Amino acid sequence: MAVDLLLGLQWGDEGKGKIVDVLTTDYDIIARFQGGPNAGHTLEFDGIKHVLRTIPSGIFHPNSINMVGNGVVIDPVVFKQELEGLDKFNIDYKSKILLSRKAHVILPTHRLLDAASEASKGKAKIGSTLKGIGPTYMDKTGRNGFRIGDFELDNWKEKYRKLADKHEKMISHYDIDIQYNLEELEEEFFESVEVLKTLQFIDSENYMHQAQKENKNILAEGAQGSLLDIDFGTYPFVTSSTTTAAGACTGLGVAPNKIGEVFGIFKAYTTRVGNGPFPTELFDEVGMRMAKVGNEFGAVTKRPRRCGWLDLIALQYSVNINGVTQLCMMKSDVLSGFDKIKVCVGYEYNGEKIEHLPYSLEQENIKPIYKEFKGWQEDLTQMTDASEFPENFKKYIDFIEEFIGIPVKIVSVGPDRKQTIAY
Ligand code: GDP
Ligand code: IMO
Ligand code: MG
Repeated sequence: MAVDLLLGLQWGDEGKGKIVDVLTTDYDIIARFQGGPNAGHTLEFDGIKHVLRTIPSGIFHPNSINMVGNGVVIDPVVFKQELEGLDKFNIDYKSKILLSRKAHVILPTHRLLDAASEASKGKAKIGSTLKGIGPTYMDKTGRNGFRIGDFELDNWKEKYRKLADKHEKMISHYDIDIQYNLEELEEEFFESVEVLKTLQFIDSENYMHQAQKENKNILAEGAQGSLLDIDFGTYPFVTSSTTTAAGACTGLGVAPNKIGEVFGIFKAYTTRVGNGPFPTELFDEVGMRMAKVGNEFGAVTKRPRRCGWLDLIALQYSVNINGVTQLCMMKSDVLSGFDKIKVCVGYEYNGEKIEHLPYSLEQENIKPIYKEFKGWQEDLTQMTDASEFPENFKKYIDFIEEFIGIPVKIVSVGPDRKQTIAY
């Protein structure tokens, strides 16, 4: 049985959590394959909003197994907080959550290193979520990392100490003054590790192979977005993992020829949180209105998200890299009430018209070329069927489908589970 994938096609926060939750009724296993608690995946149903960081977004469905794969980086402190969030809802997480032994662990000193690295960059800050993501992946690729399976060793604290001491030396090399109390941070960390150890640690790649053999339906859940990918994103303003489809192969042990459907999620416009280029960014009242109506504040850091029109050149790029087979358009309701809607269909780049994403997206070199659509005034949030959609909205979707060459199968018109329409 093939493994389906769901991933974000922009700069993250496209609404992955919501759609994974909606799709989980069709799946036995939901598996996260990369990223860590830099993610904030929001789910809404029965009038309650849940934000998940590392735990896969299938957790609220009674029969789902939720696996955290080897490609993910896990912070025991955040994980414990997430579990506490589930307690209120009587989720039997000990039977529902599986952690890969090969997943790397975020230590308190990784978070400090992240802070030191960002502070040292001055104006060139990436805008990291400061969750220790970069330093943890650096230790992984540098072959110094600490893995979930290490907690099963009798002497894991020695291994921990060695790495934490090394990190402290590294922090002292930065030319900035980072204040911290490692003893306090460690107390919280060790306490959280004990909670984490009550969960099931598994050899996740073997588990995945067995599940495929047993014809289980598996959905791999991406975090961040393709334009934050370590290779294909707007480097260096990216995260430190492979957020694109290939990341599901390395982050779960799924063979490339075993990938099935690839759901690509995008907002009907574009947002970005953190620094880095964003060609269609709006600095006027249109952008402010998107931010306000879309409630564009980060689920993790609460930072305001930058807003702009949909960029079809960037979307095409992401679709190509991921092999997307169906598109899900999110937050369509936010675009109601505009006179005109614009989409970027090319760029003026150093005086030339181009229709691909160039090496540098810096604002001074690049100017979006827009196609304009008439807006629609109708409120979409109460609609339950695509036949109710206003004509101008349908024209917008049809143009996107035609431009990208991939069908839009799901249209989201609000944050709730129920506000999801098949197209
Ligand atoms: P993720 O990181 O991709 O899971 O997305 P986030 O949860 O960070 O951000 C998406 C935000 O938009 C959340 O607050 C969702 O509740 C909300 N949301 C999702 N879909 C829709 C939609 O169709 N309309 C509106 N208005 N909000 C949505
Ligand atoms: P979800 O899964 C949006 C951004 C940060 C920063 C850059 C690097 O909720 O879509 P990092 O902490 O990874 O070193 O930050 O990436 N970023 C995200 N932006 N959604 C996310 O996750 C993000 N995870 C990281 O803002 O610009
Ligand atoms: Mg998010």
